[in-house]
Amino acid sequence: METLTGIKTRRSIRKFTEQKIEKEIIEQMIEAASYAPSWKNTQTTRYIVLSNEEKKKQIADECVMDFAWNQKTIYGAPVLVVVTTVNQRSGYERDGSFSTSKGTHWQSFDAGIATQTFCLAAHESGLGTVVMGIYDEEKVKEVLELPDSLSVSALVAVGYPDQQPEVPERKSVEDLITFVE
Ligand SMILES: Cc1cc2nc3c(=O)[nH]c(=O)nc-3n(C[C@H](O)[C@H](O)[C@H](O)COP(=O)(O)O)c2cc1C
Repeated sequence: METLTGIKTRRSIRKFTEQKIEKEIIEQMIEAASYAPSWKNTQTTRYIVLSNEEKKKQIADECVMDFAWNQKTIYGAPVLVVVTTVNQRSGYERDGSFSTSKGTHWQSFDAGIATQTFCLAAHESGLGTVVMGIYDEEKVKEVLELPDSLSVSALVAVGYPDQQPEVPERKSVEDLITFVE
């Protein structure tokens, strides 16, 4: 798929068919995401790929702050990817101090770029995704027994789309841009 077409036709998908996803396809998406830029090429994003029904149900039931939309999306998704990031590397100097006044911000920034790259690669393979930010980080860490060295940056439901949502309205370029000449 041509890059711009992929960017413009990707939609958040919240309803999936029951078709399973081959592990190799998920690996291809993560390989694509590994090409995303990151702070000093630190590459701190890690992906936990859940297809286990019990674990997914536990995340839906206990970890999304009872937000019904996310619960329904996760119940119906064949795969839930928990995007995590290794702490204290992105945006840090070797001595452990912050490189900029934005502190820990760069870790999430890197995860965001990697996650969008992952979603675009999924779209290229005919898969749908939705990035979910409404979750309780501590509960997700508890359920997955994640170490303190990792943060949870996003949940992403993945599956073959069973809906074709309209494009949510976009702001005009005029509203977004400021040229300084
Ligand atoms: C950081 C972030 C958090 C989001 N959180 C949720 C969420 O918790 N649940 C959900 O259904 N969609 C969530 N979304 C998806 C947005 O609602 C969606 O991207 C937006 O409405 C634009 O639609 P589109 O992705 O189809 O272009 C999130 C997106 C981002 C980038």
